[in-house]
Amino acid sequence: MAVQHESPYLVHVFVCTNDRGGARKSCADDNSLPVKEALKRAVDEKGWKGQVRVSASGCMGLCATGPNVMIYPQKVLFSGVSPDDVQSIVSAVERFVADG
Ligand code: FES
Repeated sequence: MAVQHESPYLVHVFVCTNDRGGARKSCADDNSLPVKEALKRAVDEKGWKGQVRVSASGCMGLCATGPNVMIYPQKVLFSGVSPDDVQSIVSAVERFVADG
């Protein structure tokens, strides 16, 4: 039987890396994997390990506006993300971490 816990993370960043191989638009078509890797590097550089987690996710049902990055529990969605947006996402995460 599952045991319910509180999430151990202040901020959990989900990056959709779903890849339909070109059959239909999906977030991996537009560099979501490099975005995820850059966010993971930023978390390491900021020393947020244990507080902030970056995870690949499957489809969020918002493919038309992807690549999508969803942040919980703050309920923030970045859509149309490119590697150029990583710093903006990191700045948002920085505010969430500061807010505790
Ligand atoms: S493929 Fe990313 S939201 Fe659907």
